[in-house]
Amino acid sequence: MANILIFDSGMGGLSVYRELSHTLDGHQYLYLFDNAYFPYGELSESCLVARVVELFRSFVSQHSVDIAVIACNTASTHVLPALRECLSIPVVGVVPAIKPAAEYSRQQQTTDKPAHIGLLATPGTVSRAYTAELIQSFAADLQVSMLGTTELVTMAEDKLAGQTVDLQRLQQILASWTSEQGPDTLVLGCTHFPLLAAEIGQCLPQVKLIDSGAAIARRVSHLLLALPDVQQARTKQQQGRLFCTAATKKALQQARAFSKEGFGELNCFVP
Ligand code: DGL
Repeated sequence: MANILIFDSGMGGLSVYRELSHTLDGHQYLYLFDNAYFPYGELSESCLVARVVELFRSFVSQHSVDIAVIACNTASTHVLPALRECLSIPVVGVVPAIKPAAEYSRQQQTTDKPAHIGLLATPGTVSRAYTAELIQSFAADLQVSMLGTTELVTMAEDKLAGQTVDLQRLQQILASWTSEQGPDTLVLGCTHFPLLAAEIGQCLPQVKLIDSGAAIARRVSHLLLALPDVQQARTKQQQGRLFCTAATKKALQQARAFSKEGFGELNCFVP
């Protein structure tokens, strides 16, 4: 049995957890969300790297973790090198699925409609040098449009807390992509956004939505093979362990949504 840590600023990592727990059962999941610094998409790069490194150093020194999944594009597109330098466990990051989206989009291309992908992410992720490099490496021949929004991150959290998604508002946010010239393929480049996939799909019915969840599950599964001790000894699925970084009223509400996904009581972890 492996102790798999899933990390995000908020509840977006649940979209990754769902993929992982479907693919990999018999492991212990820990979920840490840094609600004290939420939303990550609005933080400066220097603040983000300092915070995530401090948090991880402290967390893994106090809890047994075999593999960490940074289930946050905003963090992964900037902090992975620093994080890998200070941790001895494998660290898997989640970055926007530009490559598979570009491959899919190229196949849709016709003489009337050139390939066009959209990247829906946080303001932080769309402004990263890493994201620009991904586009340059895998989609340089395509039209690429980007939209950075924190409002959608909050909408996803509110949906999990039981609120109805305001479809009209969502339509307004996505308005620039609803025309004929809009993208044929959309990268959900924030782990919160697969949680809104049904609603985004309603606003953009002709557009193929692509996220990184399944690829991350495959990557984790592959890395677990290199950890034979933890891989062999499977156990009955246990309750996941849940940690936040600020004991707020909202965190307690969020914990109710996590409990529906198999997590136990909320613990507060302050580095
Ligand atoms: N879920 C995170 C991501 O994938 C970020 C949300 C936030 O801005 O905190 O980018």
